[in-house]
Amino acid sequence: MSKESVNITHGGDLDQAAKQFGIAREQWLDLSTGIAPWSWPVSEIPTTVWQRLPAVKCPLPVVAADYYGCVADAVLAIPGSQFAIQTLPQLFPQNTRVAMPQLGYFEHRKAWHKAGHSLFDYNDGSLDLLESKIEGGELDVVLAINPNNPTTTLLGRDRLLHWCELLARRGGCLIVDEAFMDSEPGMSLASECPRPGLIVLRSLGKFFGLAGLRLGFVLAEPPVLELLSERLGPWAVNGPAQYLGQRALADFDWHAEQRQRIASAMAEQIALLKTIAWGDKSSVLPGPLYCSIAMPLASVDRWYNQCGQQGILTRRFVRCECDGLLRFGLTKDAGQLQRLAAALRLQVAQGNSQS
Ligand SMILES: Cc1ncc(COP(=O)(O)O)c(C=O)c1O
Repeated sequence: MSKESVNITHGGDLDQAAKQFGIAREQWLDLSTGIAPWSWPVSEIPTTVWQRLPAVKCPLPVVAADYYGCVADAVLAIPGSQFAIQTLPQLFPQNTRVAMPQLGYFEHRKAWHKAGHSLFDYNDGSLDLLESKIEGGELDVVLAINPNNPTTTLLGRDRLLHWCELLARRGGCLIVDEAFMDSEPGMSLASECPRPGLIVLRSLGKFFGLAGLRLGFVLAEPPVLELLSERLGPWAVNGPAQYLGQRALADFDWHAEQRQRIASAMAEQIALLKTIAWGDKSSVLPGPLYCSIAMPLASVDRWYNQCGQQGILTRRFVRCECDGLLRFGLTKDAGQLQRLAAALRLQVAQGNSQS
């Protein structure tokens, strides 16, 4: 498979996996996404919410502002952060010079490329060249995916705010995709919004485990939100999403429990991956809702296929010609973790490379 087609394929496609490996859909352990395996407990939705058009002036931005630590004027609700990813490049003049991580959620690259802009790839593990370009005024927009999916790199607030200031001075901007930031609210730039040159994207799909709800937010200065709002048109966020989103965002006890649950499950999973197959600490990259293992491309393919043959769906990414990442989503309980452990042990016993 080519680099582009591997990196752009979304996770969670069990029908394709069932076809490829000849295993029935319901027998899979799906670790191919970064969606929390425990969802916010969806409450019953009153019939009126289904009957009426979505409210134009609903409390959702106010509740979201409270959760994100900013003011409601800086918040626009959207049908998933994907909407902003697709639309933001259309707000900039052609040939805008935009920097983005070499490897990251591929929809960003697709959208900026499609809108005809000039792309500069940076390696989020080594930022010197990017920073010299920002300082030299060679870039108009910098996109950071923080934490990055799938590299797991988490950039510090001070560094990002410094970039934002330099870019804003020349009329440019910093876009921070924080789809996976809910586990680490202290690292977020959400509370800095609105600020000149800063656009932050948030999602209810990952931490809240509500990917199907299609709800996310853009946090930015009001003129940016107005431009996006025009492109959204009326009723883009449906009534049930408004209703459930308000309740999920206001459920602070559940947020604390979910952070705890995710942290302990991830620690257990990482310990298991290291014990069974990847004792070399440096190759295991712990992320918020997934962890990635860096290894030669041939090993990525081998592990991916052998996991697939045992009904465990992972995701693979290509970093360069010879190197890639194998990403594991979070297991939900001891049963799933044991199933993963047994599959990996079998592969090690059969002589799969430990690289
Ligand atoms: C880094 C990142 N940002 C944004 C998205 C889009 O998420 P959503 O549209 O569900 O909010 C994804 C989806 O996988 C993602 O990985």
